Amino acid sequence: MNSALSSLAEVRQISRDQLESLQLARLQTTLQHVYDHSEPYRAKFELAGVTPNSLQTLADLAKFPFTTKQDLREHYPFGLFSVPMSRVVRVHASSGTTGKPTVVGYTQDDIDHWATCVARSIEAAGGRPGDRVQVAYGYGLFTGGLGAHYGAEKLGCTVIPMSGGQTEKQVQLLQDFESDIIMVTPSYMLNIADEIDRQGIDPARLKLRLGIFGAEPWTGAMREAIEARCHIDATDIYGLSEVMGPGVAQEFVDSKDGPTIWEDHFYPEVIDPETGAVLPDGEAGELVFTSLTKQAFPVIRYRTRDLTQLLPGGECVMRRMAKITGRSDDMLIIRGVNVFPSQVEELILRHPALAPHYQIELSKAGNMDAVALHLEALPGADGKQVAEQVGELKAQIKSLIGISCAMELHPDGGIPRSEGKARRVVDRR
Ligand code: DLL
Repeated sequence: MNSALSSLAEVRQISRDQLESLQLARLQTTLQHVYDHSEPYRAKFELAGVTPNSLQTLADLAKFPFTTKQDLREHYPFGLFSVPMSRVVRVHASSGTTGKPTVVGYTQDDIDHWATCVARSIEAAGGRPGDRVQVAYGYGLFTGGLGAHYGAEKLGCTVIPMSGGQTEKQVQLLQDFESDIIMVTPSYMLNIADEIDRQGIDPARLKLRLGIFGAEPWTGAMREAIEARCHIDATDIYGLSEVMGPGVAQEFVDSKDGPTIWEDHFYPEVIDPETGAVLPDGEAGELVFTSLTKQAFPVIRYRTRDLTQLLPGGECVMRRMAKITGRSDDMLIIRGVNVFPSQVEELILRHPALAPHYQIELSKAGNMDAVALHLEALPGADGKQVAEQVGELKAQIKSLIGISCAMELHPDGGIPRSEGKARRVVDRR
């Protein structure tokens, strides 16, 4: 299972037919691999009445059972690994909000493929060998830091392994080390941008040229705000630890039209989250991935819970995904109305006197859900204008989303800042 397409130039050249035959061959190998080496997968296949031979075409994948986070929990920590532990060179884990972390493992080949995908992602984002890459995703069990790190090295960049946190120092290194690229969550970038202002630095004078942002949902409006404020091009990187880590999909800097899925390593499907039926491209549903080259921890039809749609290829034949509207588990049901935090974010960012920091707090008032939207004014904004915009925002949330919110304006810094994934919702119900 070698990675035939190592450079972005090769990715751009492959035809759809070539890609699909590569995917079919790699799917067959992956299914055989888990069937032969993973007891839990074999048992699931038997229960569903399938064997690796049941896959003769790509569409046959729909006959195979899904894998969920629950499967990972049941086989905690290493029970779903499909190679002996002696071949596992690294593990990562995602914390999750409740219970045990979900643990994933990598062979040396897996690490190499991952680095290839991230190197390709940085290149698609506009990075080049020789660029200085400040990695401000957290290092550790989280896949963000080390994933970005190995990919940037593979592309031939100079890595500045800053990790998350120490915001003042982030800014110092941006300035003194002349970082060309920063890889960080979009919410933490906002925090860094505030610090750049606080130190009285003109962002236009920094060498920083590109931001590669992911690990959490962020809107197109947030992209525009960050680009204008930091004088950079901002692109979206997507990934999840169960499938690999960052670099499952990445947006091209020239088009900025949604992340391209690296389909030679990850086979995507979008399903109806209720029925599990595969939906045609273009229809919105839950994203599902089957890994095509992984050895230690292959995933078959892993349900990501991320909601999106598959779009035709733009810069190459590999398909794109629309910006994630949210995870099915992030969807808030407020007095019966389905709301994603990203919808609220979109509206906040229409108001130039308001800062892009926010938190949605849910509580119970008697039997009813109560919603408070915590906001900050942009430092230095005119008080009258802020009050007007808060009023407008309240009305827009009511008319466009359908919920009434209490608006709570905080002083500068009053809303907790993230150093990684932002906590947008505090649910006290
Ligand atoms: O967040 C991996 C990653 C690190 C991706 C750095 C990009 C950059 P997990 O901690 O397992 O892995 O969380 C995965 O985060 O299922 C999505 O819900 C969300 N997510 C990741 N990237 C994006 C994105 C990493 N670009 C979960 N847009 C995923 C929206 C994203 N949501």
